[in-house]
Amino acid sequence: MTACNADSQQNAGSGSRTVTMATSADYPPYEYVDSSSGNQEIIGFDVDIAKEITSRLGYDLQIQNIDFNGLIPALQAKRADFVMAGMTPTAERKQNVDFSRVYYEAKNTIVARQGSNLTTPESLKGKTVGVQLGTIQEGVANDFNKEKNLGVNVKPLNRINEIVQELKAGRIDAAIVEDTVAQGYTQSNPDLEFNTIPNEGEAGSAIAFPKGSELAPEFDRVLGEMIESGKVNELVNKWFTTSVQADK
Ligand code: ARG
Repeated sequence: MTACNADSQQNAGSGSRTVTMATSADYPPYEYVDSSSGNQEIIGFDVDIAKEITSRLGYDLQIQNIDFNGLIPALQAKRADFVMAGMTPTAERKQNVDFSRVYYEAKNTIVARQGSNLTTPESLKGKTVGVQLGTIQEGVANDFNKEKNLGVNVKPLNRINEIVQELKAGRIDAAIVEDTVAQGYTQSNPDLEFNTIPNEGEAGSAIAFPKGSELAPEFDRVLGEMIESGKVNELVNKWFTTSVQADK
């Protein structure tokens, strides 16, 4: 199979096409910078899935690390061929990008300092709550105000690590973070705790592509095969059941 097409950047001389994945590598165990190896490599659940799909399709993979809020613009500007960033396929995003099927489901949680008693949406009344800019968690916090009239002061920040720092320093009271990510950060920072928000929108992950991308159908097909064969489950066990060292 040849992977040529009119508007792709072919590497002259090299046989296979390089595809670029953009991600926000602040999201262990989905994607994060592994500093333990000394070479600052981006690793995680999403990266393993991306490597498997691209290798099965015969592409070389290149990874670009940008703020979450810049991921969809990067696809729209064709600066990246696809995004894997624990990204949830929302109706709003579907107006601008295409998505694969969902490969992992997650739930939202409230992260706060140990013993602060900020465990439910209602307890956040009048509090300052950090969220990652451009995420569905920002939407969840805004909905607390729209739907429950809680008067939450929503503070959007670029990176999850900044949210953790602000929380530890007491500059924000709580944060909305997905369960598996919250688990890693609270394990590395025992002064923090998390509580799942009941019945608050699922936060599944799918691969995003520029609208009309020719990669989307073949990526989705291989992803489907990986779900069927148990390969995705194997990676879930690898990344989600052992504890991953999140930043302090
Ligand atoms: N699932 C959420 C969303 O799609 C948050 C994803 C954040 N991902 C990241 N790599 N920081 O909005």
